[in-house]
Amino acid sequence: MVRLKDIAEKAGVSIATVSKFLSGKGSVSPAAEERIRQAIESLGLKAENIPRRKNSLKAIGVVIPDIENPFFSSMVKSLELLLFRYGFFLLLCNTENDVSLEEHFIHYLNKSGVKGIFLVPASSTRHAQSLHSGMPIVLLDRSIRGADLPLVATNHYQGARIAVSYLLQKGRQRIAFVGGRRDVNVYEERFRGYRDELSERGFEVDPNLIVEGDFSFHGGYHAIDVLLTRTRSFDAIFAANDLVALGAIERCQEKGIRVPDEVAVVGFDDIWLSRLSHPRLTTVRQPVYELCREAMVVLLESLNRGVRPELRLLEPQLVIRESC
Ligand code: RIB
Repeated sequence: MVRLKDIAEKAGVSIATVSKFLSGKGSVSPAAEERIRQAIESLGLKAENIPRRKNSLKAIGVVIPDIENPFFSSMVKSLELLLFRYGFFLLLCNTENDVSLEEHFIHYLNKSGVKGIFLVPASSTRHAQSLHSGMPIVLLDRSIRGADLPLVATNHYQGARIAVSYLLQKGRQRIAFVGGRRDVNVYEERFRGYRDELSERGFEVDPNLIVEGDFSFHGGYHAIDVLLTRTRSFDAIFAANDLVALGAIERCQEKGIRVPDEVAVVGFDDIWLSRLSHPRLTTVRQPVYELCREAMVVLLESLNRGVRPELRLLEPQLVIRESC
């Protein structure tokens, strides 16, 4: 006969916590729930015979900044597949790059009883206090300054160096960096990679060739108009992501600037649209499925042992097509 005491000892929680879990009354942290579930199963009971807490939702929140960006929609698709394999379903929250909306979603996900959250933050400078509630949160792709949370991301710095190195290798010398948003660490890391590659190869960074944006198609399109008000002497564009690159190509062609003959263009992400542009886009591929798989491992570990800050970086890969 398995007693509450046996389960509590095995799970490393109090008898009261086990009782709350079984009755579905009172709050039990997701990590404790997982330990209790494992303890019950290891004591020979079947998980399906365990009375589920009335409001225990086998769901994971996924919070992203822009569902219309194929980079994020492909991320959601990979996460849904991976979560399903572990018996979870996904609650999607699209923040439209709005930090206050993101806060709102995080607040309601915490109250809704989800077991954990994958978060791609709208901004890397947002407050981190509300993210330390005990809910297992795994950051994906972007960091948050001051947040003691695990992060799984592509090595954005390395990806930028690969892109700029390739442009220099192709003989381009006046390379613009366009379209990123300064309050996202991804921008800063890609800018550092751009800057360091140029300076190590003996090239100065010309501030006239740096145009910020919002990681969008229109941001890339508009960046070309801004660049042209400053100078016409640029022969390459390193875009902060593929949507920016596609917008930049469109505007260059409208202005009669031939891509790649006069201006070579390299993007970042390798979204599926990058194969459809004319010319097809040379870009830096982010391993989206592998990022999500790694983040899933970190989440499961967080559910079992509690949240521990760590950084897992995956390597980017240059995908050469015709825009460069
Ligand atoms: O396309 C959106 C960009 O912001 C991507 O490069 C990704 O890294 C995200 O952070």
